[in-house]
Amino acid sequence: MKTLRVLTGITTSGTPHLGNYVGAVRPTVRASRLSEVESFYFLADYHALIKVGDPARVQRSTLEIAATWLACGLDPEQVTFYRQSDIPEIPELAWLLTCVTGKGVLNRAHAYKAAVDKNTAAGEEPDAGVTAGLFMYPVLMAADILMFNAHQVPVGRDQIQHIEMARDVASSFNHLYGAHFTLPEAAIEEHVATLPGLDGRKMSKSYDNTIPLFVPREQLKKLIMGIVTDSRAPGEPKDTEGSALFQLYQAFASTEETTALAQAYADGIAWGDAKQVLFERLDAEIAPLRSVYDELIQNPAQLEKILKMGADKARAIATPFTARLRHAVGLRPLDSLTDTSKTAKMAKAAAPSFKQYRQADGLFYFKLMDAKGQLLLQSTGFASPKEAAQTIALLQTSGTNVLAENPSLLPIKADLEAVSQALRYFSEAAE
Ligand code: TRP
Repeated sequence: MKTLRVLTGITTSGTPHLGNYVGAVRPTVRASRLSEVESFYFLADYHALIKVGDPARVQRSTLEIAATWLACGLDPEQVTFYRQSDIPEIPELAWLLTCVTGKGVLNRAHAYKAAVDKNTAAGEEPDAGVTAGLFMYPVLMAADILMFNAHQVPVGRDQIQHIEMARDVASSFNHLYGAHFTLPEAAIEEHVATLPGLDGRKMSKSYDNTIPLFVPREQLKKLIMGIVTDSRAPGEPKDTEGSALFQLYQAFASTEETTALAQAYADGIAWGDAKQVLFERLDAEIAPLRSVYDELIQNPAQLEKILKMGADKARAIATPFTARLRHAVGLRPLDSLTDTSKTAKMAKAAAPSFKQYRQADGLFYFKLMDAKGQLLLQSTGFASPKEAAQTIALLQTSGTNVLAENPSLLPIKADLEAVSQALRYFSEAAE
């Protein structure tokens, strides 16, 4: 059985802050150490161009984010760590996917819709200031994911819709051109803390309330001293509930340390002292990482080398896969014309196949036949051809597991072993 493929991208548009570290970098680096996962992490610099119009900032952010991930323990030998723009196959795939993506689907994407709503509210043209890049964002993201046939994509909640769109695009493509893509799923970390920023609201670049992960020790201290607190005097008991300081501490400290600080709050610790406790605890975790980070930042040539190595690994997958996809859609050398039609016919005759059809009841059905045309599986009726096609795609990528989860699909003629064997043909074709 192949291992679980996990993939995620980080847009290179800013400087990593404590919220990114606790919410993404730290859990992801830990997960990447599990032996049964094959991880792909990349710097989404093409995506950065959608938001950032400043070349120096894109470059600087790429450097900082690459150094951050490595300093925090990502092992480029164990995972595939690369820069999106080093893989020319990704924008190529984005075009193939663009051609099977409904424009209406993109109209409903949250980021685009928010821009349109804002314009409309301001009495502007709906698309004022909206680039086609912003509009196409979900398709580029789908290409990132589908290129490596990722099973799971760890993302924040705001990205769930993009993963759903990637699934939709993948099944449209599979339906039209054969089972090439695995349908990805969003992996949401339920128990990872969302950190408050300096002003108590969620730590976010857009609120300008972040604490950068790798500022020098003295500056970190200064920032922490600036976190908002209430006006309770030393000696007065303080609430842990709603205290940004306390929440930050909790994200770094052990349970015992957290309990101890809660006690100190009840005992009326002075805010200045509480801030000192937080600062020391944060710095204890960050200082060793910071020294690696500082070294890497001073050494861009080494980072460049690591990213190039990652690009080689990624392209070892992307280049042959793209060749296969080009062939699938009909971008083929002309001198292979006669050959392929013959081999395609032969392959068809020797392969199991799905047939979709509509019955007098108005519903849409499919059946699965083995290589000799024997009926293996007969579906129930679906309200739309799309649902039937999605179920086929699911069967092709996930095999008979789908049948266990959807008993209503159970074959009327149930030779599960034969069904499973036929389905393996499709999932292997997608390898
Ligand atoms: N859109 C993601 C974000 O802003 C970044 C990203 C780009 C991504 N491509 C991806 C994440 C592919 C996961 C998979 O957070």
